[in-house]
Amino acid sequence: MASKPYDPKDFYFRKAHKDGLRARSAYKIEEILDRHRLVSTGGKVLDLGAAPGGWLQIFAKRVGPKGRVIGVDLVPIKPLTELPWVTTAVLDIRSPTLEAELARLDAGPFDLVTSDMAPKTSGIKAQDEARSLELSELALTTAARLLPKGGHFVCKVFMGGDFQDFVRACEAIFAQTRVIRPKATRERSFEHYVVGLSRR
Ligand SMILES: C[S@@+](CC[C@H](N)C(=O)[O-])C[C@H]1O[C@@H](n2cnc3c(N)ncnc32)[C@H](O)[C@@H]1O
Repeated sequence: MASKPYDPKDFYFRKAHKDGLRARSAYKIEEILDRHRLVSTGGKVLDLGAAPGGWLQIFAKRVGPKGRVIGVDLVPIKPLTELPWVTTAVLDIRSPTLEAELARLDAGPFDLVTSDMAPKTSGIKAQDEARSLELSELALTTAARLLPKGGHFVCKVFMGGDFQDFVRACEAIFAQTRVIRPKATRERSFEHYVVGLSRR
């Protein structure tokens, strides 16, 4: 069956606009959170690669004003002034001082660390996959350092040659690992989300 033509303003794009969400990707994390109870009221979340802030809006709703949500990205995130329990910062996950900079935001310990990070794509599939995997591995290293026992992890990964190695690395750190392709994922996308449940 032929795939549908790419529609930048598809159903989820229009729904996000109507629902006041900053990104259509918000529905991906919403589905993951509906399938796995990763965070609850009063919880603390660290979101890596959080701009423009669609996931932050979903986390903020789930944890409520007694919780804390930290979003970091290479680019500034327009402040979510209506959600004062969300803090954002410009940070490069590759920075050697990342942990010190996160510590300065004084937010841990986290219940959930997430990454929807994506590199600027070059159009060269193998190169884009390798860059994506590098970001996913850095997210996993960060989660492994910052999550206490029982903490959870969600990470976008592009399905490619080393995908199974990444899943195995998650399995070594989390009691259970799941791979999810949410309904809002665009048909032609190679992305999947790896969910690490309960840090050992
Ligand atoms: C698909 S967007 C995230 C969308 C977000 N989940 C939302 O709902 O609004 C991917 C983000 O990853 C960020 N990113 C890529 N490389 C990064 C890095 N090294 N450190 C931090 N963020 C990075 C990009 O700047 C981009 O904003």
